[in-house]
Amino acid sequence: MGVLGRTAALVPAAGRGERLGAGVPKALRLIGGTPMLVHAVHALSASRAVDLVIVAAPETEVDEVRALLAEQAGTAEVIVVTGGATRQDSVARALINLPHDVDVVLVHDAARPLVPSEMVSAVVAAVRRGHDAVIPALAVTDTIKSVNADEDVIGTPDRSSLRAVQTPQGFVRSVLQSAHASANDDSATDDASLVERQGVKVHVIPGHEEAFKVTRPIDLVLAEAVLAKRRATRAIG
Ligand code: CTP
Ligand code: MG
Repeated sequence: MGVLGRTAALVPAAGRGERLGAGVPKALRLIGGTPMLVHAVHALSASRAVDLVIVAAPETEVDEVRALLAEQAGTAEVIVVTGGATRQDSVARALINLPHDVDVVLVHDAARPLVPSEMVSAVVAAVRRGHDAVIPALAVTDTIKSVNADEDVIGTPDRSSLRAVQTPQGFVRSVLQSAHASANDDSATDDASLVERQGVKVHVIPGHEEAFKVTRPIDLVLAEAVLAKRRATRAIG
């Protein structure tokens, strides 16, 4: 990369949260009294590596999300756009709104509200060190099976070679843009998979337990506990 540009974080937040259960869109569910999306945006903007955050909000909540994030302004600039029907579509809609002076792009799930800011900075640093695509990941603890349509096991991949992938995932801007432009459907559940299809090498760095995705009701219990522990530690320290 040449002259340093700005770093933007795209935040897909337009999901309905069906596995979590009905009610408000998942990104607006509260953890410790604060919407998940607000936690996520703060974690990103608390990293000094991030200059700009672009949120893809649920179509019906764009104004509400704008108001929420205007009130709770961090240091980074925040733009809110309308999300799409799939995660990939939401990321694509945020990408369209990327200013010209951005050269590194992160994509971070709103559903990972408690990501440590240090991990955000580590992803940006790895891209700026020369990796075209960087993803944080953890070793898996369960044994993973492949099954067929009848739920019969067809294989057991070697666990030591498997990783559970998190966000933020970081990319050289042009790499992410051409991967999205070349996608032939809109079903990718992460951005690295689109980049992999282009034959670009994706580098893994250590993830963090607290960057887990809030997907099912029990994840909310864990998120509340992690936040309570952080607040207690801060009160003592
Ligand atoms: N997402 C999005 N637009 C969509 C679908 C998902 O921006 N049309 C976002 C979610 O808001 C979330 C991230 O992608 O931050 C990861 O998706 P997931 O955890 O699957 O969230 P939901 O799709 O909301 O949940 P579910 O699949 O249980 O409905
Ligand atoms: Mg989903």
